[in-house]
Amino acid sequence: MAKAKTQYVCQSCGAVSPKWVGQCADCGAWNTLSETVAVPAAKSRAGGISGAALGRIQRLDEVELQEEPRAATGMPEMDRVLGGGIVPGAVILIGGDPGIGKSTLLLQMLAQVQERLPTLYVTGEESLTQVHLRAKRLGLTRLDLPVLAETGVEAIVAQLQALRPGLVVIDSIQTLYTDALDSAPGSVSQLRECAAQLVRFAKSSQTAVVLVGHVTKEGAIAGPRVLEHMVDTVLYFEHDPGSRFRIIRAVKNRFGAVNELGVFAMTDGGLKEVSNPSALFLSRHGAPVPGSVITVTRQGSRPMLVEVQALVDQSTIGNPRRVTLGLEGNRLNMLLAVLHRHGGISLGDQDVFANVVGGMRIQEPAADLPLLLAALSSLRSRPVPGDWVVFGEIGLAGEVRPVAGGEERLIEAAKQGFKRAIVPEANKPRRGARLDIEVLAISRLDEALAQL
Ligand code: TYD
Ligand code: MG
Repeated sequence: MAKAKTQYVCQSCGAVSPKWVGQCADCGAWNTLSETVAVPAAKSRAGGISGAALGRIQRLDEVELQEEPRAATGMPEMDRVLGGGIVPGAVILIGGDPGIGKSTLLLQMLAQVQERLPTLYVTGEESLTQVHLRAKRLGLTRLDLPVLAETGVEAIVAQLQALRPGLVVIDSIQTLYTDALDSAPGSVSQLRECAAQLVRFAKSSQTAVVLVGHVTKEGAIAGPRVLEHMVDTVLYFEHDPGSRFRIIRAVKNRFGAVNELGVFAMTDGGLKEVSNPSALFLSRHGAPVPGSVITVTRQGSRPMLVEVQALVDQSTIGNPRRVTLGLEGNRLNMLLAVLHRHGGISLGDQDVFANVVGGMRIQEPAADLPLLLAALSSLRSRPVPGDWVVFGEIGLAGEVRPVAGGEERLIEAAKQGFKRAIVPEANKPRRGARLDIEVLAISRLDEALAQL
């Protein structure tokens, strides 16, 4: 095949240069030029999503509505993060550390989907023998899956044109290369160009494409991050080192809600779904211990009980440490300032460590109140009773602000057997709502502190 013409595009201003240079002649930025395929003008116009050569201006309400028929994956946790199943022509990126279980999950998923949708598994990392062995070990119900070991993207697309599956898994995008570029497989330009070819194929054929991307050491460079804008759905596979639980999180989804979360456990027989994850992120102490507070966090549409822990200890260094795991560090600093100003409690000479049990990450302010109570509980060595839950945002004026989905959180806490909830005033259940939990509604930080 003839080499396509390549050019170098500045990633900061978009200037095009026929040769690589260290500094962009236009904007003066250093090391921003990267090699891309020069697409002839006519070809680029035909490559639009609709495939039509010329766009036509229409009124929004005249645009034909097509119900997106979704194919269920047969794994409810996976369907949840995808927003209800696989949409034809969707491109889904699954990122995660090497060895976390991406290949395992997708192989299990394909075996389930195969009944409803013809599939293809393309591997560039393992031999077909290895894939067969793994499938056997996983005890998959179906072993008649079409598989292909190939890394040339042009060859893969040609095979796909012939086979026309409904779903194809590319494991992994970093192993693919295109003949059009000279750079090595795994480089940013190869990654982008290979993904672009597969996206074009997905949109023109209505085949759903799943791209596996390893998160690289450098994070952003040549990892799944550089592809996020090209795909419809971005899922990240996360885990706590040493834990067998795996969380799969939707961070972008054109066909569903973001921040939805599916929970799996890695076992000898592959990944098993965990349908009641609340129990998982609590560390069931025999007796209540100081510094531990249970909160209800919302991950996508799912309320989940998690344990926030804090350890407050006399600091031996001039600049006390503030360490957070699974929580935002800046938020902790802010909360400690609020505790000082509005609660009159200074932790200026204390180290504060905060952690969320089970490797969970909380990104919402609903964890403010439980975090402060955990810190205070640790400081005073006074445990918060084990059957209490706490949630609420804390404002800079010391006020306790409401959080979204208060009632669902209370329902989940009651379902898990919790007896008492400390919540923001505005999250008090409506009169007449029957909840099997005693609710203490507060509007100021000092009211919460008085509970300890
Ligand atoms: P894998 O799916 O190969 O990870 P990735 O594709 O994300 O790189 O998963 C590999 C790990 O999973 C490996 O360390 C072993 C473990 N594993 C199990 O614990 N049980 C199993 O049944 C399988 C197949 C793998
Ligand atoms: Mg793999």
